[in-house]
Amino acid sequence: IKVGLLFGGKSSEHEVSLQSAKNIMEAIDHDTYDVTLVGIDKQGNWHLNNNTGYLINEDDPKLVELNKTDQNIAVVPGREKDQILNINSSEALDQLDVIFPILHGPLGEDGSVQGMLRMANIPYVGPNVLSSAVCMDKDITKKLLQASGFEVANWITVKKAKKHPSFDEVSEKLGTPFFIKPANQGSSVGVSKVKTEQEYVEGLKQALLYDHKVLLEETVVGREVECAVLGNDNPEASLPGEILPNGDFYSYETKYIDENGAVLKIPADLSDEWEKNVQEQSIKAFEVLECQGLARVDFFMKEDGSLVINEVNTLPGFTKISMYPKLWEVSGIPYPKLIEKLIGLAMD
Ligand code: DAL
Ligand code: MG
Repeated sequence: IKVGLLFGGKSSEHEVSLQSAKNIMEAIDHDTYDVTLVGIDKQGNWHLNNNTGYLINEDDPKLVELNKTDQNIAVVPGREKDQILNINSSEALDQLDVIFPILHGPLGEDGSVQGMLRMANIPYVGPNVLSSAVCMDKDITKKLLQASGFEVANWITVKKAKKHPSFDEVSEKLGTPFFIKPANQGSSVGVSKVKTEQEYVEGLKQALLYDHKVLLEETVVGREVECAVLGNDNPEASLPGEILPNGDFYSYETKYIDENGAVLKIPADLSDEWEKNVQEQSIKAFEVLECQGLARVDFFMKEDGSLVINEVNTLPGFTKISMYPKLWEVSGIPYPKLIEKLIGLAMD
C-alpha cells in the first residue's frame, strides 16, 4: 500500500508536525507500507521527499528541517489554481493509495487539506472537511458541544475588528485568572493566563497576532484528562490519561520544550465509574462533531468527577511525548498497529 505522509505545514505547529512525522516514520511497518514523504515548508511550498531526502537531526531533534533542495519540489500551491491541480497530476502523488496528513493547526487540521484531498480523490486519515473545520475553531466547537448538553468553560468571543471588552467586564463575567486563546490554534500557541489589566492587554495583543478571533475563557479548577478515540461509525475510546503540568498551565513550553514541563499519567488514576464516563463522553463528542478516524478529546475533571469538555483535536500530536499513541498503547494497540488501523479506516 502506497502511503503519503504529509507533514510540516505553514502553521505555528510546523515543528510539532515534524516530530509527529518522524515518530510515525519510525513506527510504521515499512514492509506493508511504501511511504512517500511530502513535506510542506513554512512558506507553504510542497517538497516531494524520497526516503533519503528526509532530513532529521537525530542528535538534536529540535533542529529538524525539511529537505531544502529545490529539485525535490513537487508542487508549489500558491494562489494560482492550476498549481493545486498539479497535486493530482503529479506522478508520484497520483500513485498514492492513501494520505496520512500529519499536519497540525490551520491549513492542515482545519479542513483545507482535507477538501483538497477529497477533490483529488485520494483517501486520507482523519475526519472530513466539516468536522476538521469545526474542531479547529474552539468557539464553534464549544457552541455545538454546549448545544448538545456538554458542560463547557464560560467564554467570551472577541473579534479583532470589533470593540474589545474591558478587563473589568471580562473579569466580572469570567473571574480571574482567565485564559486568552486564539480560536484556531493548537499546542497552546498564543495562549496566556492573565490576572491583571496589563496582562490582559498584552495577552490579547499576542493572541490576535495568530487569529482574528480570540476566546477569553474562565479557569476551570480540575484535573486535565484526555481520551483517544478511534473508528468511523463505531468509534472506540482508549483508557483516559492525565496531564500533571509542572508550570502554570499546559503551555507550548511545558508540552514540547521543557523536558520536566509536564508529566503524563497513563492511564489516569480514576475510579471505574469516572473512567467509563470519560470514555462515553469522548465518544459522544466524537459523534456530535461528526469526527472520523481519530480524535483526542480533552476535558477538565472537577473534584466530584464531573467533566467540563475543553476541546477536540482531529489530528492530535504523534510526537514522542504525545498522548494519543500512548493512550492506545496502554489500551492494547501498539504504535505500528495503530497506524495500520488508521490507514485502514481512511480507506474503508
Ligand atoms: N495540537 C497538538 C498537536 C495536539 O493536540 O496534540
Ligand atoms: Mg488543540
